[in-house]
Amino acid sequence: MNKKLLAAGLALALGAGYTLSAVAQAKPEVLVKQRQAAMTLTGKYFGPLSQMAQGKMPYNGKIVARNAEFLTVLSQMPWDGFSPATADIKSAALPAVYKDAAKFKAAQELLQTNVGKLAAATKGGNEGAIKAAIGDVGKSCGNCHDNFREKKQ
Ligand code: HEC
Repeated sequence: MNKKLLAAGLALALGAGYTLSAVAQAKPEVLVKQRQAAMTLTGKYFGPLSQMAQGKMPYNGKIVARNAEFLTVLSQMPWDGFSPATADIKSAALPAVYKDAAKFKAAQELLQTNVGKLAAATKGGNEGAIKAAIGDVGKSCGNCHDNFREKKQ
């Protein structure tokens, strides 16, 4: 491909909206659905690990290692959906999400740090250490939900 064509192709691809700002332009209702979907998947892949750590399900190191990788990515996904533009849409997010953005961000980072430690622990293969790391991830879910999510009825 000649250089001019290549440049034109790139310009088209960028112009088609494959930029980060496209995320911010999504409709608020869509952002809420997407962040809830990311949280639902986080629950799907963390749930079994929590059960294993509590001895409610047989321990399976392969599943833990796989899910820790999934959670590494998932733990980065929901947050750009909590745009101030969504503040008036009905959801389980408390107003504190928008009023205390720094604390909300810190709770995200705590989750990411603990998921990172879990992923590292799975490389070591020490079951006790892995279960402890799962417990710490669980605490970081609860830490944020306690402050930023409506209590379940
Ligand atoms: C930094 C804050 C924060 C962290 C950390 C966090 N959550 Fe959430 N989570 C929320 C908020 C806020 C909502 C409500 C979102 C909404 O209704 O738009 C939510 C909703 C959910 C939901 C319900 C999704 C739905 O369909 O409405 C599940 C399931 C969930 N979280 C699981 C988890 C798990 C599991 C973890 C830990 C691995 C976790 N969350 C960590 C803030 C957090």
